[in-house]
Amino acid sequence: MTELSKSGAALGEPTSGSAAPTSFLEVRDLKVHFPTDDGLVKSVDGLSFKLEKGKTLGIVGESGSGKSVTSLGIMGLHTAGQYGKRKAQISGEIWLDGTELLSADPDHVRKLRGREMAMIFQDPLSALHPYYTIGQQIVEAYRIHHDVSKKAAKKRAVEMLDRVGIPQPDKRIDSYPHEFSGGMRQRAMIAMSLVNNPELLIADEPTTALDVTVQAQILDLIRDLQTEFGSAVIIITHDLGVVAELADDILVMYGGRCIERGPAEKVFYEPRHPYTWGLLGSMPRLDREQQERLIPVKGSPPSLINIPSGCAFNPRCPYADVPKDNVTRTVRPELTEVGSHHWAACHMTQEQRERIWTEEIAPKL
Ligand SMILES: Nc1ncnc2c1ncn2[C@@H]1O[C@H](COP(=O)(O)OP(=O)(O)O)[C@@H](O)[C@H]1O
Ligand code: SF4
Ligand SMILES: [Mg+2]
Repeated sequence: MTELSKSGAALGEPTSGSAAPTSFLEVRDLKVHFPTDDGLVKSVDGLSFKLEKGKTLGIVGESGSGKSVTSLGIMGLHTAGQYGKRKAQISGEIWLDGTELLSADPDHVRKLRGREMAMIFQDPLSALHPYYTIGQQIVEAYRIHHDVSKKAAKKRAVEMLDRVGIPQPDKRIDSYPHEFSGGMRQRAMIAMSLVNNPELLIADEPTTALDVTVQAQILDLIRDLQTEFGSAVIIITHDLGVVAELADDILVMYGGRCIERGPAEKVFYEPRHPYTWGLLGSMPRLDREQQERLIPVKGSPPSLINIPSGCAFNPRCPYADVPKDNVTRTVRPELTEVGSHHWAACHMTQEQRERIWTEEIAPKL
């Protein structure tokens, strides 16, 4: 393992050009736009990142920032046409293990789904069929990609249920989804996602619906499984706390774009974008009183049809007047390097950001 891959290489630096990448997953300038009666919804608007096998990337942002649209895009699910009547407009490149998925044959992408890449959703009931037992569904997921007998597939399903911590798996395999608790259903869905040893696992808000104790168990489970299988993992969440320990790298999304990204400890302990400061302030913390806990970022997320000009965060940013000449409201800030493998899109100078963080923000967290 090189020095690079220990810090920041999971995320990589912005790239351009059309050569096939060497990273396991590389997303280049991804745009996913939805034509609607009200106008074009720019849900994802120029997102780039890299991810290596064995690494975890956390994608963080408020509700509506484009996280799920990004993950469905990678899984090739927008082209399937089940999201709205009109087709999404998708551009950019998504390279998975040397194959560009956006230009690949949809049948090929369908084959990769489940075998090479799998997804865990927030709501297991949306992924599990109510009329089939958990076992039947895992067996089916396995047999689509493996030419094995039902008996062999069932053995594999029991192993997976055991692996994700479901007690008496040989009995529970015959249960229906509604006979499981929320946490157990989430485990069953993880078992189903992992039955084919996918090399890329996308977990979209995997613990949001669960209580705190079960949340911690599920996150531990994802971490253990990743170590065991060596897959690349993307964890999507609105809660920076969820990924602070779990992720190697964090990418913060705002209004369909990345506004900060870098090694997890940098983004968490030395964030350089006012929106990330806001997310940190709104994080539930065990060492705080309940009433002090949730200070949401003031204001509302931007309209993705009329994204504010300049910096999309400017209507909500307490520091919008710090950069000179109103630049914040007229020029969109690009990602610039603010530290080793650490990037932020903000017009403030490095000195301004560091001073505000050290003197005003960090002491209050
Ligand atoms: N099929 C669609 N048609 C129109 N707008 C969509 C569609 N799918 C998602 N969006 C919009 O894209 C934005 C980002 O959605 P999403 O990625 O689900 O956000 P989140 O970060 O909460 O996962 C939202 O404003 C959502 O309403
Ligand atoms: S560019 Fe301006 S509005 Fe945007 S985050 Fe930086 S200071 Fe705030
Ligand atoms: Mg979502």
